[in-house]
Amino acid sequence: MMKKPKVFITRRIPDSGLNMIYKECDVDLWDQDLPPSKAELLTHIAGVDGILSLLSDEIDSKVMQAAGKNFRVISNYAVGFDNIDVQTATKRGVAVGHTPDVLTEATADFSFALMMSAGRRVVEAEKYVHAGKWKTWGPSTLLGVDFAGATLGIIGFGRIGKAMARRATGFGMRIIFYGPTADPLPGMTKVDLDTLYRESDFISLHTPLTPETRHMINTEAFDKMKTTAVLVNTARGEVVDQDALYDALKNHKIFAAGIDVTDPEPLPMDSPLLTLDNIIICPHIASGSRSTRENMANIAAQNLLAGLRGEPLPYPVNPEVNEEV
Ligand code: DGY
Repeated sequence: MMKKPKVFITRRIPDSGLNMIYKECDVDLWDQDLPPSKAELLTHIAGVDGILSLLSDEIDSKVMQAAGKNFRVISNYAVGFDNIDVQTATKRGVAVGHTPDVLTEATADFSFALMMSAGRRVVEAEKYVHAGKWKTWGPSTLLGVDFAGATLGIIGFGRIGKAMARRATGFGMRIIFYGPTADPLPGMTKVDLDTLYRESDFISLHTPLTPETRHMINTEAFDKMKTTAVLVNTARGEVVDQDALYDALKNHKIFAAGIDVTDPEPLPMDSPLLTLDNIIICPHIASGSRSTRENMANIAAQNLLAGLRGEPLPYPVNPEVNEEV
């Protein structure tokens, strides 16, 4: 009987995907709430054929080296893959997979929810009621900003950026965007970053984290934004310079922010951002609807199993690994 391939799964994912993997593999499942430490990761990866990783696991060259000579696939349970050293994986002939498409709508829904909540101060208002501050109806109680007729600037016009744009058109917003795209949507204008900062009432980030996008939203960028602007980040925390964000919110250079990602994650409890009223901070849950997380699990399982068989991954990050030379 053929030996089953050995895999390490770094956290419990929904059963539908997990069961597919259990049928074909010898599984080491890290069944704890917190991720394995680097040392634990290095121990558990030794001798495996593949890994199913989460965005909180840093898969660098040391980890790949520790995996050994049979290691051939990394299946990331996320669309983003900035936690993986893809260049090294490709050099070693290790296929990398991710989970695009299935989380597009859920992530755009949450980005829109953050945009509306920050713009209309929903969380602040809810806290206000709980704190017993609601004494009467007030003409100027907790005033926010308008959406109809406002300009939404989208940075990163890929799958999720476009899904955000489609939602915003339903609210009568004008859309401008920055970033490469093969197929801009009708009526939406590509602009340079300066124009986007200056004209946008809302700015939503949907770009991957790369050396070029790290801290792209910095003091210089905030200085160009409207004092009424609302920033939304469901991409990666490191895209924003968090000290600059604190300064912009504290000194009312912008109106508010809604962020689902921070730098680092989790956000330390002594972060000055937690002292502000004009920011909503969520714990990286934008793709967190039940069916989306199940679909992500199925795709992550398909990627893992294809890579173990030496077949092209359905959702590859480095398809060149499977190309004939
Ligand atoms: C991703 O997939 O990259 C998100 O950040 C989590 O779903």
